[in-house]
Amino acid sequence: MKLLVTGGAGFIGSNFIRYWLNKYLQDSIFNLDLLTYAGRLENLKDIAEKCENRYDFALGNVTDTDFIDRLVDQFRPDVIVNFAAESHNSRAILNPTIFFQTNLIGTQTLLQIAHKHNISHFHHISTCEVYGDLALDSDATFNELSPYRPRTPYNASKAGADHAVSAYYETFGLPVTISICANNYGPYQNVEKLIPLFTTRAICNQPLTLYRSSQNKREWLAVEDHCRAIDLIIRNGDHGEKYNIGSGVEKSVEEIAEIVLRTLNKSNSLKTYVPDRPGHDRCYLLDSTKVRPELGWQPEIDFETGLRNTIAWYVDNPQWWQAAQQTQIREDQWASR
Ligand SMILES: NC(=O)c1ccc[n+]([C@@H]2O[C@H](COP(=O)([O-])OP(=O)(O)OC[C@H]3O[C@@H](n4cnc5c(N)ncnc54)[C@H](O)[C@@H]3O)[C@@H](O)[C@H]2O)c1
Repeated sequence: MKLLVTGGAGFIGSNFIRYWLNKYLQDSIFNLDLLTYAGRLENLKDIAEKCENRYDFALGNVTDTDFIDRLVDQFRPDVIVNFAAESHNSRAILNPTIFFQTNLIGTQTLLQIAHKHNISHFHHISTCEVYGDLALDSDATFNELSPYRPRTPYNASKAGADHAVSAYYETFGLPVTISICANNYGPYQNVEKLIPLFTTRAICNQPLTLYRSSQNKREWLAVEDHCRAIDLIIRNGDHGEKYNIGSGVEKSVEEIAEIVLRTLNKSNSLKTYVPDRPGHDRCYLLDSTKVRPELGWQPEIDFETGLRNTIAWYVDNPQWWQAAQQTQIREDQWASR
């Protein structure tokens, strides 16, 4: 099978390419990525060396119709997997436009080219945040039929992209699937995201900046478990369907800070509280019961082990995250605007 993966130089995309090429030894992948601040070729250095005949890369923008058209025409993928996105909520407060360009127009551009070339499967990666948030004391969960209620420019751009994907299925019969996942954690995640941020700050004995609403919680999914779910959807998912992918494990921002500090043997006094980001969602919990019996997926990595391994990866790879720190945004930058 031939896959065109967009955004494969980022966190989840690079983990997915490594997972797929190590598992399917006959398959090849073309990685298309703009290499923004979040995309780094070195995330796949091992794969580029080990799988040089099965892995290729092109620098390009998912909004560039002519470029995508030429690439798809030459590579002729069986499947397009769309990870490419502006993905950090905090940055979307500073520059919402780029989020709608990449996440919405970029996805529609890919859909249009997939339709033109009769691609057999288009898989799109979405986020639990499209459903909006829940009260902290709520026992509700979001299933695939829950209404979309995005609250931030990032979430709205992802929600718009999901609607575009569904529209290409309904209107043009393009064979699509969508996975809607919880918060991922694992190696190669940009240092501005919560777990890498707290881990790298703690390693450097710098303050861990917690939003004041530190009881807000997230559902945590190991990136490898996520990759296995995408694999099952690509191979066995029903076209036109959405699949929620969540672990059921919820931890608050406060709990994550404490686990990171405990694991690294650092003092709780490193915790510092800063004002919430505008639109800071309280919590979201996915109902993932559809994917479990239908596709036989369930999370295999328990949270304590997964988090411990992730923290260890950051401890072992300081040169990786020190380079990424150069582009890190300050979590109070919007206050001065
Ligand atoms: N990380 C999470 O916890 C999480 C949770 C839910 C959904 N998602 C979704 O999963 C996908 C991957 O997320 P991630 O955490 O790996 O993001 P990331 O920010 O680490 O990586 C995004 C990648 O997309 C590339 N990119 C950005 N703009 C592009 C453009 N215009 N053209 C081509 N490439 C471009 C970047 O260079 C980068 O390599 C995204 O669609 C995101 O919305 C992520």
